[in-house]
Amino acid sequence: MAEQLILTAETKEERYAELLPQITALLEGESDLIANLANVAAALHEALGHLWTGFYLVKPSPENPNTLSDITQQCPERAAAQLVLGPFQGPLACTRIHYGRGVCGTAWARRQTLIVPDVERFPGHIACSSASRSEIVVPILSPTDRRVLGVLDIDSAHLNTFDETDRTYLEQLATHLATCW
Ligand code: SME
Repeated sequence: MAEQLILTAETKEERYAELLPQITALLEGESDLIANLANVAAALHEALGHLWTGFYLVKPSPENPNTLSDITQQCPERAAAQLVLGPFQGPLACTRIHYGRGVCGTAWARRQTLIVPDVERFPGHIACSSASRSEIVVPILSPTDRRVLGVLDIDSAHLNTFDETDRTYLEQLATHLATCW
């Protein structure tokens, strides 16, 4: 049966507080990662209404298909893994991002959420859409060994869209998503 979101809140904080339990409920009883990430992207996109909402997943690069386990080692940039486009909502996006490149690859390398108020001021920002003006990228960390499994990326058509409220709730969501991997 298709689910329907209930969205009544006015403020951003209330909206996240209303949305996150619904997302958790949406994931219950389904074990397929792609199906779950697709519904999470759709739920966030519908509830928050930004330009682009989606996931990039850490995967071995085609040249080095057997190196994913190396990511747990000290120098993950040597693991020849990439971020590969996952489920998303919004305009077409670039399919592969290297470790340390762009906002997504930097969040991966630093294992930290990045809030970018103006993408034009972020050196190396990858402009998948010329309409994107600000961005938040939240790494999804394995609960067992803290390696980065993927990132949640949200782009806005406006400057200065994301703040500590977004960070707090999206990191909570990322922590939950990591348990579904
Ligand atoms: N802007 C991102 C690339 C992904 S798209 O925005 C969907 C970056 O610099 O990593």
